[in-house]
Amino acid sequence: MSTGVVIVAAGRGERAGSPERGPKQYRLIGGQPVLRRTLEAFLNWPDSGPIVTVIHPDDQAQFSESIRDLPGAERVLSVMGGATRQESVLRGLRALGTAGPHHVMIHDAARPFVDRSLLQAIAVRLHEGHDAVLPAVAIADTLKRSSADGLVEATVSRDRLFAAQTPQSFHYEKILEAHEKAAASGRSDFTDDASIAEWAGMPVLLVPGSAQNVKLTTAQDIAMADAKFTGNSL
Ligand code: C5P
Repeated sequence: MSTGVVIVAAGRGERAGSPERGPKQYRLIGGQPVLRRTLEAFLNWPDSGPIVTVIHPDDQAQFSESIRDLPGAERVLSVMGGATRQESVLRGLRALGTAGPHHVMIHDAARPFVDRSLLQAIAVRLHEGHDAVLPAVAIADTLKRSSADGLVEATVSRDRLFAAQTPQSFHYEKILEAHEKAAASGRSDFTDDASIAEWAGMPVLLVPGSAQNVKLTTAQDIAMADAKFTGNSL
């Protein structure tokens, strides 16, 4: 059974600031672009099939530069993304269709520290017959809801609350159908793929995510990721 991969990298990464330095997925950590490291994680996993990277039309040169001399890059196809993450994923899923995978892992380019043991653990659950598998970590912090004036309105129980990670992984035909249905219904506000699966009535299995598998969102996240390689303190 083949496992295709969709890596979404078409965002502008505005929360990372410094737009003159380009989108976060092309910034360097340990001397390599974030996206290159993310792709390497999947290329080095022996069970990965075809890989579609969804990129922004303005980033074609940066994308080519990121994968230059990357071993296995011939397995990486690129397609143009859309205005929202949801739209970008759908374009990636459609592009994968010609390769006809049985399963698909959908991953954010901004999570370069995904490791082989997490990919393997997810694949095991897919092969057991689960159609939707979501890596997630239990919330460790105490949660507060604020009022409009910035005061604490309530303390929210963290019991059974999880932070969703990627790669969110699915039976390919079923998640493609759910995405197509969501797009046809006019919904464009889904921020992850598990929520589209939930909306379509698919049971979603939670599996333990990894503390390492952080999403790089802010300039500080990128600096911390870089420091892991360089050993520099912040
Ligand atoms: O902005 P955020 O970090 O939530 O984006 C998650 C992922 O979705 C990123 O890897 C980003 O590049 C991607 N994305 C996309 N197309 C968009 C918006 C976001 O591929 N239109």
